Amino acid sequence: MKGLVYHGPGRRTWETVPDRRLEQPTDAIVRIDTATICGTDLHILKGDVPEVKPGTILGHEAVGTVVEVGAAVTTVAPGDRVLVSCITSCGRCRFCNEGHPGLCTGGGGWIFGHLIDGLQAEFARVPFADTSVYKVPDELSDEQVLFLADILPTAFQVGVLNGGVQPGDTVAIVGAGPIGLATIMTARLYTPARIIAIDLADARLERAREFGADVVINNGAEDAEARVMELTNGIGVDVAVEAVGVPATFELCADLIRPGGRVANVGVHGHAATLHLEKLWIRDVTITTGLVDAVTTPMLLRLIEGGRLDPTPFATHRFGLEDTEAAYDVFANAAETQALKVVLSAAAVVPAVPRTAEVAGAV
Ligand SMILES: NC(=O)c1ccc[n+]([C@@H]2O[C@H](COP(=O)([O-])OP(=O)(O)OC[C@H]3O[C@@H](n4cnc5c(N)ncnc54)[C@H](O)[C@@H]3O)[C@@H](O)[C@H]2O)c1
Ligand SMILES: [Zn+2]
Ligand SMILES: [Zn+2]
Repeated sequence: MKGLVYHGPGRRTWETVPDRRLEQPTDAIVRIDTATICGTDLHILKGDVPEVKPGTILGHEAVGTVVEVGAAVTTVAPGDRVLVSCITSCGRCRFCNEGHPGLCTGGGGWIFGHLIDGLQAEFARVPFADTSVYKVPDELSDEQVLFLADILPTAFQVGVLNGGVQPGDTVAIVGAGPIGLATIMTARLYTPARIIAIDLADARLERAREFGADVVINNGAEDAEARVMELTNGIGVDVAVEAVGVPATFELCADLIRPGGRVANVGVHGHAATLHLEKLWIRDVTITTGLVDAVTTPMLLRLIEGGRLDPTPFATHRFGLEDTEAAYDVFANAAETQALKVVLSAAAVVPAVPRTAEVAGAV
């Protein structure tokens, strides 16, 4: 079989690798029908995630078909179409039992394309299949559910739920990449009075409007704090979600928040940010952090099934799975290509449109 193999910083190739085999009775082998690439994969390629060993197949977001299950697997069977999420749950450790499989100490958590071979491949070995995959309803396409593998539960749980978004709130979302846009999309489930999107890129702010932001602010061109204070009668926003991952945007969120408000950090930070306790101590502000747990995935799946949530606008570019290398080039160059998420489809399920045409253009 073939897969996208990481060979150390800056190096990855689509190449032949050994076929997947069951290793544990709780494993399933899944044929990957549709996969996607995450910003985290780009971090890995920059060498920012040294736990990823050269030789590892990348990818932690996919929809596929079960082809084989271990003797202990009882809830999925060959032929089942499943969502394989970025988070695996052992189902037994303290953190899994408390609803935090992202923190799993029993061999799960974020393992695909990190600690074990990932999902940008023709087949994958999926540990703890019973507690880690989600059956996809027949009437939903792969593309409708694919983004439940990471960005939607991340934005919803770490942004919207941690931020405690309530009906009538004014919510500021700093960063309008896939995570910020997914935060806009899922914040709307709680009917905030107003969503303010803040980003340095006008193209991203245009997308933010399409996804449902009421006000957009380019903080490179104007003073975001002054503008937000003007919009909120000098009080600040009820909830500020940090969806970038740099010190300046965390500090901006802390400046935008009203007394008693909530800052939800979603961004992955590589550097220390300053927490201005000298200003915040008296303001009853709550600050949350977190890694996605994906425990809301079944609920988000029901919303898609019920027609209340449509993540397909995230799919901006489509490729055959064997063209994953070209897809990386497009995804890594989002400022020029305007890519949000790329969809990688196995040949058997690529629709009738000639693949070369799809590779060439955005949708
Ligand atoms: N906590 C988690 O579990 C989790 C999971 C997935 C991703 N993340 C993190 O979420 C963050 C966002 O992910 P993404 O895929 O949307 O990233 P992205 O890089 O695609 O988007 C980031 C956006 O921030 C904007 N930006 C950059 N600097 C800015 C600044 N100073 N002010 C305002 N906007 C600025 C960029 O223009 C871009 O639109 C990343 O840090 C990512 O690693 C966290
Ligand atoms: Zn990811
Ligand atoms: Zn566990």
